[in-house]
Amino acid sequence: MKRKVSIIGAGNVGSTLCLYIAQQELSEIVLIDINRNIAEGKALDIKQAGAILGFNTPITTGDDYSLIEGSDVVVVTAGFPRQPGMDRLDLLHKNRDIIDIAGNNIKKYAPNSKVIVVTNPVDVMTYRMWQTTGFPSNRVMGQAGILDTGRMIMFLADEIKVSPKDIDGLVLGGHGDTMVPIFELTRIKGIQVNKFLDNIKLSDIEKKTQNGGGQIVNLLKTSAYYAPAAATYIMVRAILNDEKRLIAASCKPDGEYGLKDVYIGLPVIIGSNGIEKIISVELSNDDLIKLKESAKIYQSSIAEL
Ligand code: NAI
Ligand code: 2OP
Repeated sequence: MKRKVSIIGAGNVGSTLCLYIAQQELSEIVLIDINRNIAEGKALDIKQAGAILGFNTPITTGDDYSLIEGSDVVVVTAGFPRQPGMDRLDLLHKNRDIIDIAGNNIKKYAPNSKVIVVTNPVDVMTYRMWQTTGFPSNRVMGQAGILDTGRMIMFLADEIKVSPKDIDGLVLGGHGDTMVPIFELTRIKGIQVNKFLDNIKLSDIEKKTQNGGGQIVNLLKTSAYYAPAAATYIMVRAILNDEKRLIAASCKPDGEYGLKDVYIGLPVIIGSNGIEKIISVELSNDDLIKLKESAKIYQSSIAEL
């Protein structure tokens, strides 16, 4: 197993991602945490699961960033999660300092890696990671769009009573209350979603999707991790296997959708070069306005960094 993925932060999201990668024997894994006992404990637990379920993936742990040397992909999940009543933007300053530590170490020890940021507020933290590493923007991306799209698909599947496997769509914009489910591009086995649901129901799905993370925070008193780690796994696999997946991810547009100087969720193709292309699609006027308003919020947060 020559490929190497490093995960910074062995908390709920990081350790679950480690489990998903290990189960599939996708690559060797390095699990770093400021609390090295957490990283070691999680890795032992996962390896013992492997002894039972029949996977055998090397996992190295520690608090020493030099372990990430030679990584193909580095995923950053280190940071504070949301608690009830908190907005993702409330984490801005607490998590910025953690991103700076991780970013400087990634630049030093894994200068050729692709970096996936998960830490919230993810669009702003990804921008900070891009600044700190100095990497080209195709090699620094944020995870949110696959998660938000997954949530939209789950809510649609429940409402329409159809398998989520037959639903395809995109949620764009920032990972927050201003995210934009693009219903015009949402299809159930090729059939437009508005053949199944009227505008009132779609607007309800939009709100549920925007509140999908918050709903879980209120129940768990911390943020979600199974679906966030699953979404991140899809991005890691797309890079390692050069899958050219068309997904939504936080990326840095260079004029696409009239946007610049921001990281925001847009449709992209992900392969071995990271973000290989930002896909421009014609959006309705309403959706384009919502997307631009969302980007404005994240641009002003960048100014506060
Ligand atoms: P957690 O609290 O379970 O884990 C965070 C881990 O980071 C802890 O183990 C902590 O010891 C570690 N850590 C803190 N500072 C560190 C440093 N300087 N170096 C290395 N490790 C450090 O949190 P959880 O639930 O795993 O969430 C992690 C982050 O991901 C949060 O900011 C959360 O809001 C975000 N998140 C983002 C999602 C997305 O879709 N983008 C979805 C879910 C969570
Ligand atoms: C989520 O959407 C809190 O960003 C985290 O679950």
